[in-house]
Amino acid sequence: MRLRPRRSALTVFAAALTLVSGVAAASAAPARGPAYLNPHLPVRLRVDDLMSRMSLDDKLGQMTQAERSAITDPADIATYRLGSLLSGGGSTPTPNTPTAWADMYDGFQQAALQSPLHIPVIYGIDAVHGHNNVVGATIFPHNIGLGATRDPALAQRIGRAVAEEVSGTGIDWDFAPCLCVARNDRWGRTYESFGETPEIASSMTTLITGLQGDSLSDSGSVLATAKHYVGDGGTTGGVNEGNTELTEDQLRAIHLPPFRAAVDRGVGSVMISFSSWNGVKMHTNHYLITDVLKKELGFSGFVVTDWQGIDRIDGQPGFTTDEVDAAINAGIDMVMVPYDFKKFIDTLRSEVQAGRIPLSRIDDANRRILTKKFELGLFEHPLTDRRYTGTIGDAQHRALARQAVRESQVLLKNDGALPLSRHDKIFVAGKNADDIGNQTGGWTITWQGSSGPITPGTTILQGIQQKAGTDNVTYSKDGTGINGDYDTAVAVVGETPYAEGQGDRPNGMGLDADDLATLSRLKASGVPVVVVLVSGRPLDITQQLPDWNALLESWLPGTEGAGVADVLFGDYNPTGKLPDTWPRSASQEPINVGDGQQGLFPFGFGLRYHR
Ligand code: GLC
Repeated sequence: MRLRPRRSALTVFAAALTLVSGVAAASAAPARGPAYLNPHLPVRLRVDDLMSRMSLDDKLGQMTQAERSAITDPADIATYRLGSLLSGGGSTPTPNTPTAWADMYDGFQQAALQSPLHIPVIYGIDAVHGHNNVVGATIFPHNIGLGATRDPALAQRIGRAVAEEVSGTGIDWDFAPCLCVARNDRWGRTYESFGETPEIASSMTTLITGLQGDSLSDSGSVLATAKHYVGDGGTTGGVNEGNTELTEDQLRAIHLPPFRAAVDRGVGSVMISFSSWNGVKMHTNHYLITDVLKKELGFSGFVVTDWQGIDRIDGQPGFTTDEVDAAINAGIDMVMVPYDFKKFIDTLRSEVQAGRIPLSRIDDANRRILTKKFELGLFEHPLTDRRYTGTIGDAQHRALARQAVRESQVLLKNDGALPLSRHDKIFVAGKNADDIGNQTGGWTITWQGSSGPITPGTTILQGIQQKAGTDNVTYSKDGTGINGDYDTAVAVVGETPYAEGQGDRPNGMGLDADDLATLSRLKASGVPVVVVLVSGRPLDITQQLPDWNALLESWLPGTEGAGVADVLFGDYNPTGKLPDTWPRSASQEPINVGDGQQGLFPFGFGLRYHR
């Protein structure tokens, strides 16, 4: 749904007038209230005027982001002049409904507007594959599946749909897309990457344009975030928050290009990676943050830490004055504290007053943050645009998600068992066949995600039943009951949800015991077996593959499991291509295109049913 842009013809005319001669237009504009509240003035003049009115504490508060659950008294938002709030993964209002989200946002915003200068907060959230904290939202395939589509235009449409659903809850800032280049599939965040090459991630920065629109001030637009800067997907051993040991040339060749592409697309914020580069914590890296990102790439938005990113600099709990100095002086503009915001503000104040953080750095950070708030139109429209609340989980967005699921499926093996016939007698098995939680993966309703009926959607089994009819489809989670009466067995197996470090696989990357037991039952029946793998990364299936008649990699498809059935039954001729080289075994990791290793399936591989 594309609602009429907020800008009236008069506003456009006034803006054009202002562009022609700011001062003249300004004098023509009605002289009411302070200049920074005049939407007809150029943003840079509004920022100048507002900053001239701000105290040091006003400025320190703008650089401070607090988790919503840390706000025990909404009055603290104005008292401490907080510039931003966030919902961490799974941090939701009760009840978890779109209206409750919008009411929560508006409550916080109205509290913020009580501050002396009435500066609105900007509220951030991880809507990384849909508005995934909200029950009932459309959940799209995780990025690894979007990478398999090789369809940047689709990614842009998804960005717009996500922006509408996020806007429908009031929220104005999406900590997405992750532009990590996952080089070792052991990494728990491999599924948040579009693939193993910088080219794929760079091409999918169209998602930023979808989120931010043609203009941040357009209705439904939200601020995007390029994350996690830089090299998070290149750590040794694929260890989350680990150490990326590369020369500068290698770092620039592999991990920097997607951020250059994001900056060129006007991304409004950049989030710093927890990881280190050659032993130096990214959160303290002045060269990469200030000299490269801000100066060389020309990034004019604002830089935000990751969650407690400052605390993790020294590896000890909490943050110290040294850590605050190092991070802010490196070029970080906003700090995702997220709980101890009062102590953070006190620490920042004392370091500025001691001269260890120059006021010019504070002013640069504020200028960047306020510019985005003005560009978003937050001063004119601080509250939820409830015209978008009804788009959350609507049929149009779910249809788009189903298309994304179709295009993301990668057919890796097929001896003729696929496509299925609607008239087949089909036996469906596997722990991931009828489980919305497993097919959506991490970052869904909760931070880690979870198995079970966690949000409305269509499971892969339901998609199969819609095609063939429930009379022709038998489901048995562990495969018990399979016999020779069936034409085909479909085993939907793979991973259960995880996020971040909890998804690291330092040891094996094979199927779990339940899946292996299910598959052996099916094999014993002699019925042809089609395997659908629901996983956030390539898995070690070399030993089992010969027993399978077909293999479809489904990645983490989200709520629209019918898109998988579209491919299984040939209603969509698969087009997906591997965004990651598929290893023969975990011992091959890291394995990437061009490194000379021979994997089980090469980068870019994907079969079709017919040309
Ligand atoms: C997490 C993630 C980051 C996310 C942030 C806020 O630790 O690293 O991707 O945006 O915290 O939830």
